[in-house]
Amino acid sequence: MDTSRLFFALWPNKATRETVIELRKEFHDQYGGRAVPAEALHITLAFLGETPNARFAELSAIGRSVMTPSFQLTLSRAGCWSGGIFWLAPIEPPLALIALVMSLHGALKAEKVLFDNKRFVPHMTLLRRAGSRGTEMMVAPIELSVQDFVLVQALRTEKGARYEVIERFPLAAG
Ligand code: 2AM
Repeated sequence: MDTSRLFFALWPNKATRETVIELRKEFHDQYGGRAVPAEALHITLAFLGETPNARFAELSAIGRSVMTPSFQLTLSRAGCWSGGIFWLAPIEPPLALIALVMSLHGALKAEKVLFDNKRFVPHMTLLRRAGSRGTEMMVAPIELSVQDFVLVQALRTEKGARYEVIERFPLAAG
């Protein structure tokens, strides 16, 4: 059976990516590790992993069924978990982000689509295997205007993972 490695995510626009990259460069210089490239920056909403390609149409319908409002997301916290994931995150997730994730996870469960259902902690990974485990700090706020979310395929290449947006799902007017 053909499968693809899939996840739903927030996908920042080019301007946001450039702003995040400036910050990521500073942290990379300071803490090392493997830097996530600009085009791969995202916030995962639901990680499905290997999923049969025969379910693409169903996943598209699930994405379209989510009708929660668009929202502003402010990333102003940075830190590093014990596994070396250096992240950027909101101080507190806005209610509309929680509503989006609850709606998406609910629809996935209703359709019996398997996904990693551990507690949702919104974050954008900037570095992997960074040498700053346990740190946390405030950073100059980065504002995202979230108008949609996406279904992404993770492709394994010689240079590492490459992400390809398969479909965009607009959120309702905020
Ligand atoms: P991370 O950024 O915190 O590492 C693609 O692998 C994306 O899915 C990554 O952003 C990764 O999160 C996220 N993800 C969430 N759960 C995962 C899991 N169980 N395995 C791999 N990636 C996962």
